[in-house]
Amino acid sequence: MDWGMRNRLAGIIKPDTGRCVMLAIDHGYFQGPTTGLERPGEAVAPLLGYADALMLTRGVLRNVIDPGRRIPIVLRVSGGTSILRDDLSDEDITVSIEDAIRVNASALALSVFVGGPHEKETLTNLAKLCDEGQRYGIPVLAVTAVGKEMSRDARYLRLACRIAAELGAQIVKTYYCEGFEKVVGGCPVPIVIAGGKKIEERDALKLAYVAVSAGAVGVDMGRNIFQSKWPAQMIQAVRSIVHDGKTDAQAWEEFQHATGRS
Ligand code: 5RP
Repeated sequence: MDWGMRNRLAGIIKPDTGRCVMLAIDHGYFQGPTTGLERPGEAVAPLLGYADALMLTRGVLRNVIDPGRRIPIVLRVSGGTSILRDDLSDEDITVSIEDAIRVNASALALSVFVGGPHEKETLTNLAKLCDEGQRYGIPVLAVTAVGKEMSRDARYLRLACRIAAELGAQIVKTYYCEGFEKVVGGCPVPIVIAGGKKIEERDALKLAYVAVSAGAVGVDMGRNIFQSKWPAQMIQAVRSIVHDGKTDAQAWEEFQHATGRS
């Protein structure tokens, strides 16, 4: 792996802990103004100081993020669908490598839909993106997206993560599931988990804890942070688990204290 790629990866996965807290706010690329992200600039301003990296689209990046802010950008470069369609897998690459370089992306993020109607296109798009990333030393984060019909069990996610790594992704983002050790064990590159739909804060902390305990290098969490009533306290509690080795119970105690409820 060349110096530039290693340097960019080190900006995302912190070398001192080998872990990462990525904040995902790219939901609008197919969901439009997602709850909690109606004004993305205001939503993320109090959170940026606690995120190791920010995953978003170039539109939100250019319009609401201060370019003077030193935060590694994981740029969403796939899309072309909306929630109005039944089939979300019909994605293409939506950003040129030149534009990704222009915004100083630290990584490029693309979804793959293994088993979906457009499996082949999304996987070959990943391979093409990895070629472009290799050319310029920019890592690729593959998101193992699950369509409505696809399950999230270890057997499926293990397959999807491994294929993404085999095609060249340097990081894989997936969902936590029972037997997650098997998913991590079958994937030769670091895995981060998505948070998924908003759940109780206590449960989201448990999710982060069991995921890193099973071998994930961290989280790429969105809704369970920015849709919380206490987003800044929530991301700090997640950091305690991911970077400081706290249990979910300890992080929950910190969270309750920070929100004035204990
Ligand atoms: C969608 C994505 C989103 O960034 C991701 O799922 C958001 O994280 P969360 O599920 O925690 O809101 O990659 O494909």
